Amino acid sequence: MAVKALNLDNIQGNILGGFNKDFQTFLFLKFKSAVKGRAWIQDIADPDSKVSVANSSSTEVLKFNAQFKALLASGIEKPESLISAAWTNLALTFSGLSALNLKAADLTKFPTAFKQGMAARAPLIGDQGASAPSKWIAPFGTSDVHVVLQIAADDLQSLSDRVNDITASAKFIAGVTPLQVVQGRTREGAEAGHEHFGFKDGISQPGIRGVTQPDDPLGNPDQGHPGQDLLWPGEFVLGYPTQIPKSPVGGCGFNTQAGAPSKSGPSWTADGSYLVFRRLAQDVPAFDQQVTALASQAGIHKDLLGAKLVGRYKSGCPLEERHFQPQPFVVSPTDPGSVTVTPALANSDTLNLNFEFGDDANGAICPLAGHIRKAYPRDERTLQKACDSEPETQTHRLLRRGIPFGASIGNRPGGQPSDPRGLLFFCYQTDLERQFEFVQSKWINNAQFPPFPTGVTPGEDPIIAQTVSGTFQLDPAKPNITVKHFVTTTAGEYFFAPSIDTLQKIGAGTI
Ligand code: HEM
Repeated sequence: MAVKALNLDNIQGNILGGFNKDFQTFLFLKFKSAVKGRAWIQDIADPDSKVSVANSSSTEVLKFNAQFKALLASGIEKPESLISAAWTNLALTFSGLSALNLKAADLTKFPTAFKQGMAARAPLIGDQGASAPSKWIAPFGTSDVHVVLQIAADDLQSLSDRVNDITASAKFIAGVTPLQVVQGRTREGAEAGHEHFGFKDGISQPGIRGVTQPDDPLGNPDQGHPGQDLLWPGEFVLGYPTQIPKSPVGGCGFNTQAGAPSKSGPSWTADGSYLVFRRLAQDVPAFDQQVTALASQAGIHKDLLGAKLVGRYKSGCPLEERHFQPQPFVVSPTDPGSVTVTPALANSDTLNLNFEFGDDANGAICPLAGHIRKAYPRDERTLQKACDSEPETQTHRLLRRGIPFGASIGNRPGGQPSDPRGLLFFCYQTDLERQFEFVQSKWINNAQFPPFPTGVTPGEDPIIAQTVSGTFQLDPAKPNITVKHFVTTTAGEYFFAPSIDTLQKIGAGTI
């Protein structure tokens, strides 16, 4: 089958190539009227404007990221001192699209989850108790939120310049009302690249055919880095081939063949992607205390206990890097079994994705409910038909684009234990129900997942399940322990990031 080439010039940046900037501002906006809203979209999608989303296309972002990586590889520690860029991405909620008076016949074609919005989906995705939409920061979860503008830059000054250029324009002032301004900041110093609980983040992403270059194109053409399966881009951008959720005919496991192109909503959604946003508050002191207490209860080092909850050490090294994992499981309480001292291994592109879970079927090395195992079970047996498990799992992948918010404890002015801090979780996909909602409800919040080995309760995801506490199988040879959960959803929305061409047509009034 002839495979359609990716139209990277038309796909907004941050979808296929992440903005990857340390300084990001998220403007949540409401249209003042359909006419004025469209006029502003026309302005911000105009390629002649320096702040235009058209100048932040996937082509531009991927080109910049490749140059940045090459400079790093050549030994330059701070490439941003040599090259820099500021980026913008625009995405709309269903109420935002509706407020623009788009054709009703087009709007009805959007899928139910998107039309309802995240707050209405709370019972399904588990936002309850302290995470219930009624407790969210206003006006999230209401039909007032129409747009998110993601603005990213290499330093604070460039970021505020770009934000000012956008918000000072006459069309912006006339067309939209800012509702919330949310700041994302990566952490600093030794904590750079780590989320607030202290674990390195942003390591594992799906490889994408046509975007991710295989490290070994001849020997291993279906993987980017070793262990990073290449997926068809239709999982993340509409209009391109998707994964086939079954083993190849006559084979068993990962299916490299192209499935049907992804379709969702009206025809003008091609080259677009759905965006999930969740503001997840993290109670860091309480999490740290719990890790220390559970480690002492289990008789293991707290670094190892923390790694068992996440599936990776704080350094990023996966537990499944067996030669660093104490075996048998019961180890001296003073032995972290950790690679905190050898971050080179954790940072190695050839090692840190190159592992599976199928050969640790009872979770003796990495618990069955460890966060990364729950969120992407790799070759885990998840279906009755074992051979279809991995190809089916590959249809529930997410392209994560999150960034922390709030000051680190003691690390910045105002960084007190009680300050708000957490993760601005963003992820792209082409099917909200099959991807984000499935992962959150069928895997993360489900104490019975994975269903094999039978007769075992693996537990809920100990990091992001939204219940107050849950059961967790730390050691298959012992009874489950109880783990309290310290991540709370404080805001969330579903957005659609249209192609650049579609934004221009919306602006011109031809859609
Ligand atoms: C405050 C909340 C969260 C924290 C602290 C957190 C932390 C982490 C960490 C430390 C990693 C390992 C680094 C990496 O592989 O990139 C990771 C991976 C991952 N997380 Fe989260 N996460 C959070 C929320 C979420 C949410 C809401 C989802 C989806 C519903 C999610 C899905 C994933 C996935 C898919 C991976 C990659 C797994 C893999 O490919 O091996 N995370 N997360």
